[in-house]
Amino acid sequence: MMRASTLCLIVAACCIAVACGEHMRSGSTQSSQQQTSHPAAAAAVAAFPAGPQGALIAYGHDIIENTPAVMGGNITAKMSCAACHPDAGRVPHQGSFLGTYAMFPQWNKRAKRFIALQDRIAECFLYSMNGRPPAYNSKQMIAITAYIAFLSRGAKVGEGFEGQEPVKLSAGPPNVHNGAALYAARCVECHGVSGNGSGMVGDPPLWGPNSFNDKAGMSRLDRMAPFVRAAMPHNAPGTLTDQQATDVAAYILSHPRPHFDKSKLIAFPPQPASYF
Ligand code: HEC
Ligand code: HEC
Repeated sequence: MMRASTLCLIVAACCIAVACGEHMRSGSTQSSQQQTSHPAAAAAVAAFPAGPQGALIAYGHDIIENTPAVMGGNITAKMSCAACHPDAGRVPHQGSFLGTYAMFPQWNKRAKRFIALQDRIAECFLYSMNGRPPAYNSKQMIAITAYIAFLSRGAKVGEGFEGQEPVKLSAGPPNVHNGAALYAARCVECHGVSGNGSGMVGDPPLWGPNSFNDKAGMSRLDRMAPFVRAAMPHNAPGTLTDQQATDVAAYILSHPRPHFDKSKLIAFPPQPASYF
């Protein structure tokens, strides 16, 4: 069975070429309503408002769905945010953004400070996209934030929506050998033997120079395995056992990927706001 988000991706690929954004957006919004489990979360996924407010939200959606096309200068990974946040963050348990805005600012143990949603978005630029975050007051950052806020309408501050978090797995130690066999059987048809992605929509890199770096959340087994369990294989999600998801994630993570370059973080360039 072909999932709605697969269809959107195919449509999205055409849209880059012919700029048919409006049709794509209304189509994917319809399908998302059926995918959301929590009623309040379902209500938060509605057609974008008309006018400049809606245009900014739609721009945020475009950045997430088509990152290389819209913000290629800020990233080196050959993938969109939506590769790990399917349907631009509108699928529960799969990197969902539904309710996320209500969870910020939040206390960050590692940084020992409150972080804003913009800080969290910047982290995904630095690590998951192996790139450079836009300035916090840039049009791009404000658009992404506005889009996530739009998906969070109706969520309680500090609580978000129920049932959005990653699935909990119960599995033994990972078996990379079994993971390799499973990869050949269930993943290789889309992700290829090289795992490095083609740079095309629908073929995000899992490892190699085009992929996310070694500081990304997805480079941790306890983050990738629940994602794979819930979202992969893309043509039959939910068909792997907890153990299979763990094994195949461990196999993916046994390959090399870019090392996070700390100088990128320290030499945060002064980025003038283009928004005002
Ligand atoms: C390689 C996979 C990957 C890519 C690509 C990626 N992310 Fe993420 N992102 C994650 C993971 C994994 C988490 C959850 C990490 C955790 O558990 O704290 C996350 C978390 C987030 C969160 C916090 C969600 C919450 O509810 O707390 C935001 C916001 C976010 N990402 C935005 C983005 C944006 C914007 C982009 C593109 C510029 C992006 N991400 C690209 C993997 C990715
Ligand atoms: C039918 C094609 C297809 C198959 C089969 C498939 N994937 Fe994916 N995979 C995708 C697409 C497309 C995405 C981007 C997410 C989206 O659009 O929903 C993705 C995203 C991912 C991601 C997060 C993004 C990244 O680049 O790291 C991981 C991890 C992943 N797949 C692992 C797997 C594993 C493991 C299997 C086998 C069990 C698998 N996939 C099978 C198409 C596929």
